[in-house]
Amino acid sequence: MDNIIEDELMSSSVIKNLNALDFDYVPKELLHRGEPLRLLAQMFKPLLSNISQNSVIKGPVGTGKTVITKKFCSSLVNLARKQGKIVEYVHINCRKRSTDAMALLGILNHFDSRFPDRGFSVQEMLEVLRKQLMKRNAQLLVVLDEADALLKKNNSNIVYSLTRFSDESSKEKIPISLILISQKDVLSMLDSSSLSTFKRSNVVSLNKYSHDELFDIVRQRIDLAFHAGTVDEGCVHLIADIASEWGDARFAIELLWKAGITADHQHVQMVIPEHVRTAKAETYSIVTESKLKNLERHQLITLQAIAKRLYRDGTAYVNTGDAEKTYALTCEEYDEKPRTHTMFWNYLKDVESAGFINIKPSGKGQLGTTQFISLPDIPAEVVRSKVDELLR
Ligand SMILES: Nc1ncnc2c1ncn2[C@@H]1O[C@H](COP(=O)(O)OP(=O)(O)OP(=O)(O)O)[C@@H](O)[C@H]1O
Ligand SMILES: [Mg+2]
Repeated sequence: MDNIIEDELMSSSVIKNLNALDFDYVPKELLHRGEPLRLLAQMFKPLLSNISQNSVIKGPVGTGKTVITKKFCSSLVNLARKQGKIVEYVHINCRKRSTDAMALLGILNHFDSRFPDRGFSVQEMLEVLRKQLMKRNAQLLVVLDEADALLKKNNSNIVYSLTRFSDESSKEKIPISLILISQKDVLSMLDSSSLSTFKRSNVVSLNKYSHDELFDIVRQRIDLAFHAGTVDEGCVHLIADIASEWGDARFAIELLWKAGITADHQHVQMVIPEHVRTAKAETYSIVTESKLKNLERHQLITLQAIAKRLYRDGTAYVNTGDAEKTYALTCEEYDEKPRTHTMFWNYLKDVESAGFINIKPSGKGQLGTTQFISLPDIPAEVVRSKVDELLR
């Protein structure tokens, strides 16, 4: 027994630095993101003259929003320090801190890790923050990552409070700058008074990574994380192929990590494409889940209807007419009113562009606009139970 444990714990690994495969890891070099980094630098240059700035970073999943922001902000902090200026940078994940109070607490914890987590109102916390900044003679740079999770709660005031806070304290010179990160259009979630401080032009949009860009990112990660010569070149191509469907660097790195772990479990010294395929099969469920969370309720119901139908009928395709009927029934099940035919078609298109279904024209002999829908990648039963969880 002890032998097994010891053998496994002490066995050699193809991975030399597991840390470098972590989601929070920030590599020294960020590939193919020179332009957005330059844009950020241009936007935030006024901070070096103690003038606050606000900006929005948006882009689909895994396009580097978090990592480029972290990289940019720490460079800015360092440069400011060289000029004798103190910029306090706080990165808040709003998925984890999804109320104003929790976000503010996160900011205060940056200054005092033992700041009590209850007993202070938002107003009082803002006051404490002001004192902290004055004491340090510092300006503040707050990143609200996944900001939609906070802003969609319509009583969120934090953007307004923080931006106004910086106006009010202008005589005391405490500039507060904000960066909002989201996959969604967060500007549309801001009330008009907050929006006025977020000039429309201050948006950095990141595009999905191309196949070749993902290839380079994976290559770089292999050099950082794996022992030399332990990853077959075919793996890099295969990972770039798989991940380029979404342009998602996180998915690519996750595949690489899982493939490495799989090779280790088999006690082999080389990661080969078969390990990547195994990794893909495992990773699908996690990725699916995070993508499902981005669908709206009726898009989810549409997907649910398709999965139900395919599962029940045991067929490869369901036609759009049948899918719409099942959609109406599924709406009832979740206490929703079915939307119009046109809306249903929009939902189908949305679910298709989110990568869950394929829609193809029917062959000859079929009625006018009927099309066939398939679920190419994920078992219908898996979709059904995951979507059901989200809808309830
Ligand atoms: N240009 C790049 N060079 C090297 N690594 C990158 C690059 N872009 C992204 N990565 C890596 O890919 C992963 C995903 O990036 P990141 O977390 O920044 O994505 P994101 O856009 O914030 O995604 P989400 O919307 O899901 O939060 C991270 O591990 C990051 O280090
Ligand atoms: Mg992110």
